Amino acid sequence: MSFAARLNGAGWWTIGRDVNRIAGMSEQPYKGKRRKRYPGTHPRRFEERYKELRGDAVMIEHVRGRGRTPAGTHVPVLLREVMSCLRPGLGDVAADCTLGYGGHAMEFLRRIMPGGRLIGLDVDEKELERTAKRLESAGFAGPAVSLHRSNFAGLDKVMAKEGLDGFDIIFADLGVSSMQVDDPSRGVSYKADGPLDMRMDQRLGKTGADLLATLSMTQLSAALRDFSDEPDHHKIAQWIVQQRQAQPIATTDQLARLVLNAKGFSPRARGRQLWQKPGGLHPAARTFQALRILVNDELGCLAQLLRIAPYCLRPGGRVGIISFHSGEDRLVKHAFKQGQSDGQYADISFQVIQTTSQEVRSNPRSASAKFRWARKQ
Ligand SMILES: C[S@@+](CC[C@H](N)C(=O)[O-])C[C@H]1O[C@@H](n2cnc3c(N)ncnc32)[C@H](O)[C@@H]1O
Repeated sequence: MSFAARLNGAGWWTIGRDVNRIAGMSEQPYKGKRRKRYPGTHPRRFEERYKELRGDAVMIEHVRGRGRTPAGTHVPVLLREVMSCLRPGLGDVAADCTLGYGGHAMEFLRRIMPGGRLIGLDVDEKELERTAKRLESAGFAGPAVSLHRSNFAGLDKVMAKEGLDGFDIIFADLGVSSMQVDDPSRGVSYKADGPLDMRMDQRLGKTGADLLATLSMTQLSAALRDFSDEPDHHKIAQWIVQQRQAQPIATTDQLARLVLNAKGFSPRARGRQLWQKPGGLHPAARTFQALRILVNDELGCLAQLLRIAPYCLRPGGRVGIISFHSGEDRLVKHAFKQGQSDGQYADISFQVIQTTSQEVRSNPRSASAKFRWARKQ
């Protein structure tokens, strides 16, 4: 078979046909707009790399159909479970403390309207603006939706600003969104090179690079141990402190390489490592997670949200938190248990709720999600 015939048999033509089928269109080949040309053989910039970033709905559906999360979007995790435990109803006032792409918020709105209100919080200005537009174009605008660029640690202040006596629902889906992970300029992932920023809130003073330049070996080692259970925390911290004297650690690539070296992976072996198989964890993943948690003081903010939540709920109100690592889940579990024994909560989730294998298959990023809820007296 000629090269051209093979291409026609399994290449773009087929993809075009599938896309059209998904969209319920004719069997004509997909004729999207051509993507802007990039110089060189490999797309380097985030905007050049993914076709779905053009906002083409058919292409986005096509990527979803292949079990992947389209770049620039986010799939809400444990959506069905969150709704069945928090039971948003007509007229409820709901606080989505981590608005992100607005996936959970949109579902809350569908269930609380008419008559309800959604108060959405996020620290990320860029994504907040985009989500505001998305909610508006889905028909959710006006006084029923108020969005705040605010840390959820200040939920009580947002509540006062809105003139509310409490919420019927408080929800948080912790961590970073897929948009933040996929965008190399945010510097939260080892997958693409970018500045080692890691701030979800650009108003924060210190980036990941700043912390790596200034923290002591003991502080780095403790962060790696406590925030991501990194078994090689001491080795990595030692190597970072040694290497930063020769050159500042300013990019995600530099940090990823440094961790691989500290863990004893040879550069030639890297391409064949186990972490590249489905479900494998990249050796630098835990270091990136720990540094991101430190930069954004994620555990401190969560502890404050858990402290104020009972005072921000109306009687019978529900709070639900999705967390993505054991340190966060421990905080949530203990706060809810303590609240129940103090008489603040009438009921709490009996067990942690996790994603089904079916959800993990369709959204691999949901794999470590853990959900817990509590109901106020
Ligand atoms: C996992 S995403 C939420 C996704 C959202 N549930 C959805 O379905 O699209 C987490 C979001 O919370 C924001 N965030 C993280 N920590 C925050 C905090 N302490 N206060 C407010 N927003 C925060 C991040 O900027 C990010 O946009």
